[in-house]
Amino acid sequence: MEYTNFGNTGLRVSRVGLGCGGHSRLGLSSGSESVARGVVKHALDLGINFYDTARIYGTEHVVGDVLFGERQHCVFSTKTLVLDREGDFIAPDKIISSLEKSLSRLRTDYIDIFNLHGVRPKELEFCLQNYIEPLLKEVDKGKIRYLGVTELFEEDTSHIMLEKALEQEVFDSVMVGFNMLNPSARKKIFPICSERKVGTQVMFAVRRALSDYDRINKVIDNLAEQNEIDKDSIDQGNPMGFIAENRDIGSIVEAAYRFCSREFGVDLVLVGTGSKDHLSKNVDAVNSAALPTEICERLDALFGEVSSVSGD
Ligand SMILES: NC(=O)c1ccc[n+]([C@@H]2O[C@H](COP(=O)([O-])OP(=O)(O)OC[C@H]3O[C@@H](n4cnc5c(N)ncnc54)[C@H](OP(=O)(O)O)[C@@H]3O)[C@@H](O)[C@H]2O)c1
Repeated sequence: MEYTNFGNTGLRVSRVGLGCGGHSRLGLSSGSESVARGVVKHALDLGINFYDTARIYGTEHVVGDVLFGERQHCVFSTKTLVLDREGDFIAPDKIISSLEKSLSRLRTDYIDIFNLHGVRPKELEFCLQNYIEPLLKEVDKGKIRYLGVTELFEEDTSHIMLEKALEQEVFDSVMVGFNMLNPSARKKIFPICSERKVGTQVMFAVRRALSDYDRINKVIDNLAEQNEIDKDSIDQGNPMGFIAENRDIGSIVEAAYRFCSREFGVDLVLVGTGSKDHLSKNVDAVNSAALPTEICERLDALFGEVSSVSGD
């Protein structure tokens, strides 16, 4: 496993972070709790020391239980929503209650990275005005080490919220959507994070589109119909064939994780899965060499300017 420094935090993290949410939720979405526990245990065995979860995922207790004896070797990232079910902002004291519940479920007395979860551009100002001060008090108490923010990439595909958030120099970590189909964080987010030494967690490296040929084809057809990519430069029947046919690349999923992991400014890539076998393969992908230059150039020519899709 490769390790790297996470922004300016002093945390030494594995280049792969275990994503305990997404559609798989460690396998809890379709399988049993023992499957989820097995995935976390396997992650530990593979050398993964970074675990990203959230109150809403329902996986904090699995991470807390399995990693109880390993806490000092692990980095825990968890999150609180900022809106309630009615769509109203959560009161600041409830944000702190959410932190307390996360501490309890993760069986720990501190969270390494506490994130505001899925903040929309129009919500950022309220969050900055109302949540940062109380959260900084929790930092002073030692219950939180670093503050982070995650974007709602499904809606905010061009990173409007994160661009604004990074102007504030409040957050030590950002979680950003980035993948072969929408590499817009390359210009908008990574340079500024690199300059200011803000830790970067990449999400949506694969998500649903890049693990399913039908979905990839639909996303690409839509982009071509909307003239966001050049129709003439794609092979209509098999738009990602140039990747699948390359002898140095095992699969589109492998290419997707390799694409993210060797990007300048990326600290770690989150991998979401309910399968130990997928996790092993994905760790190999993240740790392997950058994609061949001709593949990177082709991807850049095709999708380099796309910022309208998330790849879900
Ligand atoms: N706004 C936010 O804060 C936010 C939003 C979304 C995600 N996140 C975080 O980011 C993490 C990563 O996102 P994600 O879970 O969507 O992860 P991802 O790694 O981009 O994609 C995961 C999907 O790809 C499939 N997959 C993984 N490896 C595979 C392989 N080798 N072969 C075939 N299919 C494979 C998984 O299914 P299998 O289970 O079958 O492997 C799963 O459906 C989440 O877990 C969560 O921690 C945060």
